[in-house]
Amino acid sequence: MTPQEVLAELTALQAGDVPTHGGSTMAYVYDSGRAGVEDLAAAAQAAFQWTNALDPTAFPSVARIEDDLVGAAADLLGGGPATVGTVTSGGTESCLLAVLAARERWRARGGYRRGGSGRPRLVLPVTAHAAFRKAAHLFDLEVADVAVDPDTCRALPAAVAGALDDRAALVVVSAPSYPHGVLDPVGEVAALAAAAGVPCHVDACIGGWVLPFLDDVPEPFDLSVPGVTSLSVDLHKYGYAPKGVSVLLTAEPELRQGHWFSTAGWPGYPVVNPTLAGTRPAGPMAAAWAVHRWLGRDGYAELARATRAATVALAGGAAAIPGLRVVGTPVATLVALAQDGPDGVDVLNLADEATARGWLLQPQPPFAQPGGADLPATLHLTVTGATAGRVDALLADLADAARAAAELPRPVADPDLVAAAATIDPAALTVAEVDALLELAGVGGGRLPERMAPVHALVAALPRPVAERLLAGVLDLVYRPRRAAFSG
Ligand SMILES: Cc1ncc(COP(=O)(O)O)c(C=O)c1O
Repeated sequence: MTPQEVLAELTALQAGDVPTHGGSTMAYVYDSGRAGVEDLAAAAQAAFQWTNALDPTAFPSVARIEDDLVGAAADLLGGGPATVGTVTSGGTESCLLAVLAARERWRARGGYRRGGSGRPRLVLPVTAHAAFRKAAHLFDLEVADVAVDPDTCRALPAAVAGALDDRAALVVVSAPSYPHGVLDPVGEVAALAAAAGVPCHVDACIGGWVLPFLDDVPEPFDLSVPGVTSLSVDLHKYGYAPKGVSVLLTAEPELRQGHWFSTAGWPGYPVVNPTLAGTRPAGPMAAAWAVHRWLGRDGYAELARATRAATVALAGGAAAIPGLRVVGTPVATLVALAQDGPDGVDVLNLADEATARGWLLQPQPPFAQPGGADLPATLHLTVTGATAGRVDALLADLADAARAAAELPRPVADPDLVAAAATIDPAALTVAEVDALLELAGVGGGRLPERMAPVHALVAALPRPVAERLLAGVLDLVYRPRRAAFSG
């Protein structure tokens, strides 16, 4: 084959993907909508794509790039003279490392002795990103779930305070939260955490490159807030860099040591890793660096303000659509829509109707809070620079989709399936049994149906461990080999 033929094959593979550009995919991708950003990022990425960020002494250029990115983040987000940071592969890795560092601090300070038996705890308002649940799973912490206010969807300081015992290794707040785009009371929670001697992480993965440029943020949320010990911010989101770049800031170097790994315990080269990976791609870092240098503070401020104005207009317009309401007070560039009243529009059906009109609006199933009132199903919209110019078209399609969704039967889980699932021990299920259950649930072969509302309704109705096993089963089917062995 010629290189052109190979590239044509790749292009053909993309035909089934949701668009990465144009602003209609309102989750997963971030399009600035500004000419030149992509070309610059691609050129910078190409220049560094063979460089290995594993060893910054062999590639001092990478050390400099990382230092500049950390410096920019610290400057933007309230860092002080002692602030240090690490460039990671994304939001999840930044969150993982923040938890690892806090666990190590808890251990070093005699956590087990102070708290007696048991594992360290990660105190999570339920709206904290799922990456923290992954961290607890990987690093063996117990999650202390804390209910949020069911109306504002913000963390409740009094409820968080109740979880700050001797086993608490870290408390997390979001700026803003992914599900609803609302700002947690960072100052109050961080003060409570500090008084209890517990570190406090601000997850600004999605908002950290937007909020500092706005003048209507209700309260401080960054590293300058007393009690905040670390903060994560993703450059591959509103830094408009290609995938694979985030920054974890740490208030002082001692804490950062907790997520570094160093070994001389093998016959190979001495290994010191600040992140989870060994070999690390430098391309995304160079691209983030280039985009940041080019757009600069003014470029980002202009993008953030235009996107925020579009978000406010979108929220106002969506709230005026009969049967819909906006959840809480969105502070950044995310909006969550919910059904307004018992006769309102079902948002899971609305997501399907939006898909049919060319928009990816992300459905979030209803959630039963442990120890708190239930949170409704919502539709999540991430507004980026490219969406900003299309708000009128989006609102028109949303109103049309809402009318169509109102005509559909409400999605309900098959009661027989739910009753049968209640008797299942998910840990005992074989892969073949999971396949069979997925067939019954309408997602056999890992092929998702055109209408996903019934599937989301089922996921919400199943016992959580069963739902989680089935979700893994869908992925298992998607990745089951179906390709030819070796090309050529
Ligand atoms: C608040 C927040 N934290 C963490 C993450 C995880 O980031 P990533 O998908 O880059 O791993 C996200 C992603 O949307 C997020 O919004």
